[in-house]
Amino acid sequence: MNRKYRKTVIAGNWKMNLLPSDVKAYGEALRQRAGKVKFCDLVVCVPAVSIPAAVKAFRDTRIAVGAQDLSEHASGAYTGEVSAAQLKDAGAKYVIVGHSERRTYHGETNETVNAKLHASIDGGLTPIVCVGETQAQRDMGISKDIIRAQVKTAFYKIPADRARKIIIAYEPVWAIGTGLTATPAEAQEICSEIRAVIRSLYDARIARAVTILYGGSMNPANAAELLAQPDIDGGLIGGASLDAGKFVQVINAANQ
Ligand code: 13P
Repeated sequence: MNRKYRKTVIAGNWKMNLLPSDVKAYGEALRQRAGKVKFCDLVVCVPAVSIPAAVKAFRDTRIAVGAQDLSEHASGAYTGEVSAAQLKDAGAKYVIVGHSERRTYHGETNETVNAKLHASIDGGLTPIVCVGETQAQRDMGISKDIIRAQVKTAFYKIPADRARKIIIAYEPVWAIGTGLTATPAEAQEICSEIRAVIRSLYDARIARAVTILYGGSMNPANAAELLAQPDIDGGLIGGASLDAGKFVQVINAANQ
């Protein structure tokens, strides 16, 4: 973390878990414990149907509500899709873009991710754009090439004043939901590479200002070590964010 130049962000990603009717109890548990957080921004990305309940449950707290996906289109005949404007109107402030589960199960390409990144910014949401290599790509020794291509394509035609507000999450696919975590040194190496790509696309000031998160089996036991790395500015937490107690422990690690 480097709080002098950029925000620390801890974001939960519930994925397709919990019901809208579960949100109130979660909010109460989190609200009690997370009251004294000063040094980081908190986000919980819930299923779209739970956004109104989450907005209500987190009202008057530092916890912002995020969505997990959005349409690349602004409006129109796209049955089943949800637009940035609709998410914003429902109370979401953030949206995850290009999560590896969207890439793997829903065919999202780097180009789709770029279109969704534009749509999220145009719609007034703060995107959390995910990048990460698979196990096979890691085994081939091409992790950095994959990440560079993902970041470069995601940021295509994103103007500088907007780029600095985008949050990037490095989520190695092999570490998601597996209990395997990149070592702090491995995660740092890639996050520093991501910052270098942003520097090459924009400039050093913007690269210094961009918040980069690590995600992939982050939990109370490994959070502090990962967050101690200079280019890791927070976390995107899946499984451990479903339990308000565990999520608070990760938040506390970022709030030192
Ligand atoms: P886990 O923390 O469950 O590994 O999930 C990480 C993730 O995909 C967050 O977006």
